[in-house]
Amino acid sequence: MAKRTRHIKLGLFLIVDGSHEAAWRHPDATSARGMAFKRYVDVVTTADRNFFDFVFLADTLGITSDNLPMISRNARSECYDPIVLLSALAPFTQAVGLVATASTSYNDPYQVARRFASLDHLSDGRAGWNVVTSANRFEALNLSSDDLPPHEARYRRAREFVSVVKGLWDSWDDHAFVRDKESGLYFEPSKMHVLDHRGEFFSVRGPLNIPRSPQGHPVIVQAGSSEDGQDLAAATADVVFTAQDNLADARDFYAKLKARLQRYDRGEEDLIIMPGIFPVVGRTQGEAEDRFESLQSLLHPDVGIPFISRLGGLDLSGLALDDMLPSVIDATNSSKSRQKLFVATARRDSLTIRQMFMRFAGARGHLQVVGTAATIADCIEEWVSTRAADGFNVMPPLLPSSMNDFKDLVIPELQRRGLLSSAIRTGTLREKLGLRHPPDMSHVYASDRPDELPLHSRIEP
Ligand SMILES: Cc1cc2nc3c(=O)[nH]c(=O)nc-3n(C[C@H](O)[C@H](O)[C@H](O)COP(=O)(O)O)c2cc1C
Repeated sequence: MAKRTRHIKLGLFLIVDGSHEAAWRHPDATSARGMAFKRYVDVVTTADRNFFDFVFLADTLGITSDNLPMISRNARSECYDPIVLLSALAPFTQAVGLVATASTSYNDPYQVARRFASLDHLSDGRAGWNVVTSANRFEALNLSSDDLPPHEARYRRAREFVSVVKGLWDSWDDHAFVRDKESGLYFEPSKMHVLDHRGEFFSVRGPLNIPRSPQGHPVIVQAGSSEDGQDLAAATADVVFTAQDNLADARDFYAKLKARLQRYDRGEEDLIIMPGIFPVVGRTQGEAEDRFESLQSLLHPDVGIPFISRLGGLDLSGLALDDMLPSVIDATNSSKSRQKLFVATARRDSLTIRQMFMRFAGARGHLQVVGTAATIADCIEEWVSTRAADGFNVMPPLLPSSMNDFKDLVIPELQRRGLLSSAIRTGTLREKLGLRHPPDMSHVYASDRPDELPLHSRIEP
């Protein structure tokens, strides 16, 4: 097979204690509270200076279970609104991209378009939006609803949602705001475009009350890997996050998703595929294994069943920790791709629920590598060179120590192998990722009637 070598993209999946479920209990974890702003500043400034293209904040609209034994042992019951947090962090950083999650099921496009355009302006072009459809019914309960809409309807809404957001980001041509004191003209009327959208889910007139942002369109990330999720990505996204735990499946996912781009007249370079990697780094193999074990030993058995049930979208009622999964699994209305991965792994390796918990409590179904910097770099190199990934979303098990191990040990190894540049990439997030800058609408709409409000009804197929 032809191998390819090129610079990889690197994101940092920022969960304040680290990605391992028990990270907050570790002796090296800080005792500062989860909301302590300085903890976030320390991590993002390290990412900023150490070759990460972006930091990424996940989000759910609430506490995603009512299982008290689990949630009372979990650190994720206190977390910031991601856009607010990244806006506060932006001035502490200069280069790193800032990617926040926002749900298309529980927002309106106008608000999301405005928030991300704002973040893009105030960070000089470093904003990214992780488009999610929300997969947990407790979010619905916080947003005046009894349950999630059906999976397929969530994705249909997401498609229209993203299209409207992009249309709103095109409300103004570059340099529309002339602020000409002499003539008294604040903006150039022919450079304004009123979306005037009416669709199945949304009715949005526009324009956005914020000028076109430095990236034109902030970077769009998509993180659902079901058929519908892949279709949304192929049609609309610049970057895909995905959970893949083995090379064969990751290569298959990569090939199919890249091929799907043709349906939307897009090329392979238009979409960057970034699986997650959960790296447990040691100076020796033994040290890495000891580090992993020190986290695993802190997992509480009470968390096992609700953790697997919630993340895997699995009904485990009536089962005990040492049971196997039932032979028949009901289709989930939550995350279809994660359920598929959990069930396939459990069946393949004959895992009990307890063993599934031990397997997924750190990496959550993403690639897990426990070893030296060379072992981790080997794995990254293999995935990138055999077309399983264009880069990785790094999930440090424990923050800040695992991130420091990654920067001190793995990053120099990646640079030595020519997989990572030795200069920090600068510019907008699009430029850092090698993505196209979307042109403004001046070439599409040329008004010859300057006194009329320019209504441009438009919806992408
Ligand atoms: C790296 C990664 C990050 C994700 N972050 C979020 C998140 O912040 N909020 C959320 O609701 N879903 C998140 N998801 C879940 C997906 O966006 C998606 O909603 C879910 O997997 C259901 O998609 P599917 O049925 O298409 O597989 C994430 C998934 C991945 C792989």
